[in-house]
Amino acid sequence: MKITKICCIGAGYVGGPTMAVIAQKCPHIKVTVVDLNEERIAAWNDENVDNIPIYEPGLSAIVAEARGRNLFFSTAVEQAIDEAQVIFISVNTPTKTYGKGKGMAADLKYIELCARQIARVAKDNKIVVEKSTLPVRTAEAIKSILDNTGNGVEFQILSNPEFLAEGTAVTDLLHPDRILIGGDTTVEGQKAIQSLVDVYANWVPADKILTTNVWSSELSKLTANAFLAQRISSINALSELCEKTGADVNEVARAIGMDSRIGPKFLKASVGFGGSCFQKDILNLVYIAKSYGLNEVADYWEQVIIMNDHQKKRFSNTIVQTLYNTVADKKITFLGWAFKKDTNDTRESAAIYVADDLINEQAKIAVYDPKVSRKKVLADLDYLETRTAESNMKSISSYEDAYTACEGAHAIAVLTEWDEFVQYDWQKIYDSMHKPAFVFDGRNLLDKAALEQIGFVYQAIGS
Ligand code: UDX
Ligand code: ADP
Repeated sequence: MKITKICCIGAGYVGGPTMAVIAQKCPHIKVTVVDLNEERIAAWNDENVDNIPIYEPGLSAIVAEARGRNLFFSTAVEQAIDEAQVIFISVNTPTKTYGKGKGMAADLKYIELCARQIARVAKDNKIVVEKSTLPVRTAEAIKSILDNTGNGVEFQILSNPEFLAEGTAVTDLLHPDRILIGGDTTVEGQKAIQSLVDVYANWVPADKILTTNVWSSELSKLTANAFLAQRISSINALSELCEKTGADVNEVARAIGMDSRIGPKFLKASVGFGGSCFQKDILNLVYIAKSYGLNEVADYWEQVIIMNDHQKKRFSNTIVQTLYNTVADKKITFLGWAFKKDTNDTRESAAIYVADDLINEQAKIAVYDPKVSRKKVLADLDYLETRTAESNMKSISSYEDAYTACEGAHAIAVLTEWDEFVQYDWQKIYDSMHKPAFVFDGRNLLDKAALEQIGFVYQAIGS
């Protein structure tokens, strides 16, 4: 089947950029992205493309090119499902906060709602594509809902996990390491796979498009994220040992990264990984392993999360201890709140947990992040439910510029590796701070020698 109409349910960090790139590269395909969230859709349709709801380098230009031509954003979910030959499901799958598997398993209620809606609306055969990361065998559940509640039409379910990383989404989508498509081994399943392969073949070389069975595809996504996160926890574990022994974690990472079997990427010691994927997917993997009675497998992967939590705690503890064991009423400025640079996404950002610890110690936190609003900072803290919203408001403030944020601070903590932080006039910042002036660099971003020369007491993770 030649695909000419695609619908994507979910206009978030995955659905939005992915569909924008498909639309740009396939002008012959009408791509409609739908979402229940009216505010989000309105922002995607904002006349000024700089106001689209997701900040990703290069994304607004692509949206400007394709929007209104063959890329559409809408809240008319049913109409888009009805029209499309292929329906991507890109809704959120957060970790469950209730019931069985609480804190571990993926909450599939949004996925199930989508499946039921597709079943209700579809009047002709459709290919349904899982784009969100899902536990292994979710496709089976979707298929069962579709087949048992549908109008007798045929559904093919494909798994096509997205490997883009935030901050580099556009480049990752334009030049993917691989595209993975899992489907049924039946003739119909193979035809569905081929239809989707043909879409990607518009810009991705054939040897980078892998096809597998559904379960391999679903599990590969969890495995890729688990391996990446594991590297960070491994280097972070060693960062603590480096601090005790006088080794420098950056030097160690460089030395081991030159071994071609290890490779240099994802070896940057940090205050801990964040983002919507790593923790969620590993917890999911742990939950699946446990549910099959594979306790050693579960414990092995759980340790990656335990290490990451420890790293965040360790960072806030270091701040308190270094500031003479008390941060009560001291102003501590956070440079960065996003979970990594070049994104406005803050989900699971280490900054949230470090701030929470320091507020428990009665510190006053001042935040500057080039892309994160005050509203978002407060919402992130409120979400933890450690204290009331009113009390959070008193403990945390957010600034439009970094220099004002740092004025009168006792310490600066670097939580995100935004490039602009390196360019600052650090002498000016030093002059405006309490003395001794401390910098706790959670990202190994700044120049130790230069800051010490100015007079800062500088501490980075792992050295
Ligand atoms: C990740 C995967 O990379 C991507 O393939 C998948 O589709 C989604 O999850 P993302 O979470 O967007 O992408 O960003 P990533 O670049 O992987 O960074 C995740 C976290 O790890 C960030 O907080 C980052 O700062 C941290 N990190 C990354 C480190 O602390 N050290 C490193 O060396 C690399
Ligand atoms: P991700 O990072 O996986 O893209 P996001 O939370 O950024 O996650 O985006 C998921 C989007 O899916 C949200 O904008 C949410 O409103 C939308 N969504 C969830 N359930 C449905 C549904 N049943 N119909 C339409 N949109 C939905």
